[in-house]
Amino acid sequence: MSTKQYIQQFLKKQNKVGSIVPSSRFLAKKMLQNIPFDKVNVMVELGPGTGAFTPFLLDRMKPDAVLILIELNDTFYRELVHKIKDPRAIIVHGSATDLPELLQSLNLEKVDCILSSLPLAIFSHELSNRILQASKAVLHQGGHFVQFQYSLQSRKKIFRQFGNLKLSFTPLNFPPAFVYTCTK
Ligand SMILES: C[S@@+](CC[C@H](N)C(=O)[O-])C[C@H]1O[C@@H](n2cnc3c(N)ncnc32)[C@H](O)[C@@H]1O
Repeated sequence: MSTKQYIQQFLKKQNKVGSIVPSSRFLAKKMLQNIPFDKVNVMVELGPGTGAFTPFLLDRMKPDAVLILIELNDTFYRELVHKIKDPRAIIVHGSATDLPELLQSLNLEKVDCILSSLPLAIFSHELSNRILQASKAVLHQGGHFVQFQYSLQSRKKIFRQFGNLKLSFTPLNFPPAFVYTCTK
Protein backbone atom coordinates (compact mmCIF):
# COMPACT_ATOMS: atom_id res chain seq x y z
CA MET A 1 0.00 0.00 0.00
CA SER A 2 1.31 3.44 -0.87
CA THR A 3 1.74 6.21 1.70
CA LYS A 4 -1.00 8.11 -0.14
CA GLN A 5 -3.47 5.21 0.38
CA TYR A 6 -2.51 4.95 4.07
CA ILE A 7 -3.12 8.69 4.51
CA GLN A 8 -6.52 8.27 2.80
CA GLN A 9 -7.49 5.66 5.43
CA PHE A 10 -6.26 8.00 8.17
CA LEU A 11 -8.40 10.83 6.79
CA LYS A 12 -11.46 8.59 6.50
CA LYS A 13 -11.10 6.88 9.90
CA GLN A 14 -8.94 9.16 12.01
CA ASN A 15 -10.57 8.13 15.27
CA LYS A 16 -9.60 4.51 14.64
CA VAL A 17 -6.39 4.62 12.59
CA GLY A 18 -4.64 7.14 14.84
CA SER A 19 -1.44 7.69 12.80
CA ILE A 20 -0.90 9.47 9.51
CA VAL A 21 1.85 7.12 8.29
CA PRO A 22 2.91 3.56 9.23
CA SER A 23 5.41 3.13 12.08
CA SER A 24 9.16 3.07 11.44
CA ARG A 25 11.53 0.09 11.73
CA PHE A 26 13.16 1.92 14.66
CA LEU A 27 9.87 1.82 16.56
CA ALA A 28 9.46 -1.84 15.54
CA LYS A 29 12.84 -2.59 17.13
CA LYS A 30 11.85 -0.79 20.35
CA MET A 31 8.53 -2.65 20.53
CA LEU A 32 10.28 -6.00 20.23
CA GLN A 33 13.29 -5.41 22.46
CA ASN A 34 11.83 -6.85 25.69
CA ILE A 35 9.98 -9.83 24.25
CA PRO A 36 11.48 -13.27 25.10
CA PHE A 37 10.77 -14.79 21.68
CA ASP A 38 12.22 -18.18 22.66
CA LYS A 39 9.33 -18.56 25.14
CA VAL A 40 6.56 -17.25 22.90
CA ASN A 41 4.24 -19.90 21.44
CA VAL A 42 1.20 -17.75 20.78
CA MET A 43 1.45 -14.06 20.01
CA VAL A 44 -1.26 -11.51 19.17
CA GLU A 45 -0.84 -8.28 17.25
CA LEU A 46 -3.67 -5.79 17.80
CA GLY A 47 -4.08 -3.18 15.05
CA PRO A 48 -1.34 -4.39 12.69
CA GLY A 49 -2.46 -1.84 10.05
CA THR A 50 -0.45 -2.51 6.89
CA GLY A 51 2.02 -4.71 8.80
CA ALA A 52 4.75 -2.26 9.82
CA PHE A 53 5.76 -4.58 12.71
CA THR A 54 4.57 -7.95 11.42
CA PRO A 55 7.63 -9.09 9.38
CA PHE A 56 9.92 -8.17 12.31
CA LEU A 57 7.78 -10.30 14.62
CA LEU A 58 7.74 -13.24 12.24
CA ASP A 59 11.53 -12.96 11.80
CA ARG A 60 12.03 -13.43 15.53
CA MET A 61 9.30 -15.96 16.29
CA LYS A 62 9.99 -19.69 16.66
CA PRO A 63 9.18 -21.85 13.61
CA ASP A 64 6.27 -23.52 15.44
CA ALA A 65 4.83 -20.37 17.06
CA VAL A 66 1.55 -18.75 15.98
CA LEU A 67 0.85 -15.07 15.33
CA ILE A 68 -2.74 -13.84 15.38
CA LEU A 69 -3.25 -10.48 13.69
CA ILE A 70 -6.47 -8.65 14.58
CA GLU A 71 -7.30 -5.71 12.33
CA LEU A 72 -10.59 -3.78 12.22
CA ASN A 73 -10.08 -1.73 9.06
CA ASP A 74 -11.27 -3.51 5.83
CA THR A 75 -8.63 -1.97 3.58
CA PHE A 76 -5.76 -2.78 5.94
CA TYR A 77 -7.11 -6.28 6.52
CA ARG A 78 -7.15 -6.97 2.76
CA GLU A 79 -3.64 -5.54 2.42
CA LEU A 80 -2.41 -7.90 5.18
CA VAL A 81 -4.00 -10.93 3.53
CA HIS A 82 -2.29 -9.97 0.27
CA LYS A 83 1.09 -9.29 1.89
CA ILE A 84 1.59 -11.77 4.76
CA LYS A 85 2.02 -15.29 3.41
CA ASP A 86 3.77 -16.85 6.41
CA PRO A 87 1.92 -20.05 7.51
CA ARG A 88 2.40 -19.05 11.18
CA ALA A 89 0.19 -15.97 10.71
CA ILE A 90 -3.60 -16.04 11.19
CA ILE A 91 -5.16 -12.82 9.95
CA VAL A 92 -8.48 -11.92 11.55
CA HIS A 93 -10.83 -9.17 10.41
CA GLY A 94 -12.28 -8.14 13.76
CA SER A 95 -12.01 -5.99 16.83
CA ALA A 96 -9.62 -6.16 19.75
CA THR A 97 -12.67 -5.81 22.01
CA ASP A 98 -13.61 -9.38 21.04
CA LEU A 99 -10.19 -10.83 21.79
CA PRO A 100 -11.34 -13.66 24.14
CA GLU A 101 -14.08 -14.78 21.70
CA LEU A 102 -11.74 -14.56 18.68
CA LEU A 103 -9.19 -16.73 20.48
CA GLN A 104 -11.88 -19.21 21.47
CA SER A 105 -12.94 -19.52 17.84
CA LEU A 106 -9.34 -20.58 17.11
CA ASN A 107 -9.44 -23.08 20.02
CA LEU A 108 -7.07 -20.92 22.03
CA GLU A 109 -7.56 -19.52 25.50
CA LYS A 110 -4.31 -17.89 26.59
CA VAL A 111 -1.46 -16.17 24.77
CA ASP A 112 2.17 -15.40 25.67
CA CYS A 113 2.47 -11.90 24.30
CA ILE A 114 0.29 -9.09 22.94
CA LEU A 115 1.73 -6.31 20.81
CA SER A 116 -0.72 -3.43 20.45
CA SER A 117 -0.64 -0.41 18.16
CA LEU A 118 -4.17 0.63 19.02
CA PRO A 119 -4.58 4.39 19.44
CA LEU A 120 -5.79 4.09 23.05
CA ALA A 121 -5.42 7.81 23.72
CA ILE A 122 -8.16 8.68 21.21
CA PHE A 123 -10.49 5.88 22.33
CA SER A 124 -13.17 6.47 24.93
CA HIS A 125 -12.30 5.56 28.49
CA GLU A 126 -14.69 2.58 28.30
CA LEU A 127 -13.26 1.27 25.04
CA SER A 128 -9.61 1.50 26.05
CA ASN A 129 -10.32 -0.08 29.46
CA ARG A 130 -12.32 -2.88 27.86
CA ILE A 131 -9.42 -3.69 25.50
CA LEU A 132 -6.82 -3.52 28.28
CA GLN A 133 -8.94 -5.78 30.50
CA ALA A 134 -9.52 -8.29 27.69
CA SER A 135 -5.78 -8.28 26.91
CA LYS A 136 -4.82 -8.94 30.51
CA ALA A 137 -7.45 -11.66 30.84
CA VAL A 138 -6.08 -13.69 27.92
CA LEU A 139 -2.40 -13.34 28.84
CA HIS A 140 -0.60 -16.20 30.57
CA GLN A 141 0.90 -15.32 33.95
CA GLY A 142 4.31 -13.82 33.13
CA GLY A 143 3.14 -12.88 29.60
CA HIS A 144 3.93 -9.48 28.08
CA PHE A 145 1.74 -6.65 26.84
CA VAL A 146 3.57 -4.14 24.64
CA GLN A 147 1.91 -0.92 23.49
CA PHE A 148 3.14 2.21 21.74
CA GLN A 149 1.64 5.68 22.07
CA TYR A 150 2.58 9.18 20.96
CA SER A 151 2.03 10.62 24.43
CA LEU A 152 2.08 9.64 28.09
CA GLN A 153 -1.67 10.14 28.33
CA SER A 154 -2.53 6.43 28.73
CA ARG A 155 0.34 5.64 31.08
CA LYS A 156 -1.73 5.58 34.29
CA LYS A 157 -4.50 3.58 32.67
CA ILE A 158 -2.08 0.90 31.45
CA PHE A 159 -0.22 0.85 34.76
CA ARG A 160 -3.49 0.45 36.67
CA GLN A 161 -4.34 -2.62 34.65
CA PHE A 162 -1.00 -4.43 34.92
CA GLY A 163 0.52 -2.96 38.09
CA ASN A 164 3.92 -2.57 36.40
CA LEU A 165 5.24 -0.79 33.35
CA LYS A 166 8.59 -0.25 31.65
CA LEU A 167 8.79 2.86 29.52
CA SER A 168 11.06 3.56 26.57
CA PHE A 169 11.05 6.16 23.83
CA THR A 170 12.20 6.59 20.26
CA PRO A 171 12.49 9.92 18.45
CA LEU A 172 13.04 7.92 15.24
CA ASN A 173 9.39 7.64 14.27
CA PHE A 174 6.81 10.05 12.97
CA PRO A 175 5.52 11.14 15.43
CA PRO A 176 8.15 10.13 18.05
CA ALA A 177 6.74 7.37 20.23
CA PHE A 178 6.72 5.94 23.75
CA VAL A 179 6.74 2.18 24.21
CA TYR A 180 5.09 0.63 27.27
CA THR A 181 6.02 -2.94 28.21
CA CYS A 182 4.01 -4.65 30.96
CA THR A 183 4.23 -8.11 32.46
CA LYS A 184 1.21 -9.96 33.83
C1 LIG B 1 -1.79 3.64 14.81
S1 LIG B 1 -2.37 2.45 13.63
C2 LIG B 1 -1.00 1.34 13.70
C3 LIG B 1 -0.79 0.53 12.43
C4 LIG B 1 0.53 -0.26 12.41
N1 LIG B 1 0.63 -1.23 13.47
C5 LIG B 1 1.70 0.68 12.50
O1 LIG B 1 2.28 0.77 13.60
O2 LIG B 1 2.04 1.31 11.49
C6 LIG B 1 -3.67 1.67 14.57
C7 LIG B 1 -4.32 0.46 13.90
O3 LIG B 1 -5.30 -0.10 14.80
C8 LIG B 1 -6.45 -0.49 14.03
N2 LIG B 1 -7.59 -0.56 14.96
C9 LIG B 1 -8.28 0.48 15.53
N3 LIG B 1 -9.23 0.03 16.36
C10 LIG B 1 -9.13 -1.34 16.35
C11 LIG B 1 -9.81 -2.38 17.03
N4 LIG B 1 -10.82 -2.12 17.89
N5 LIG B 1 -9.44 -3.66 16.81
C12 LIG B 1 -8.43 -3.95 15.94
N6 LIG B 1 -7.76 -3.01 15.24
C13 LIG B 1 -8.09 -1.71 15.45
C14 LIG B 1 -6.54 0.60 12.98
O4 LIG B 1 -7.36 0.21 11.91
C15 LIG B 1 -5.06 0.76 12.61
O5 LIG B 1 -4.68 -0.19 11.66
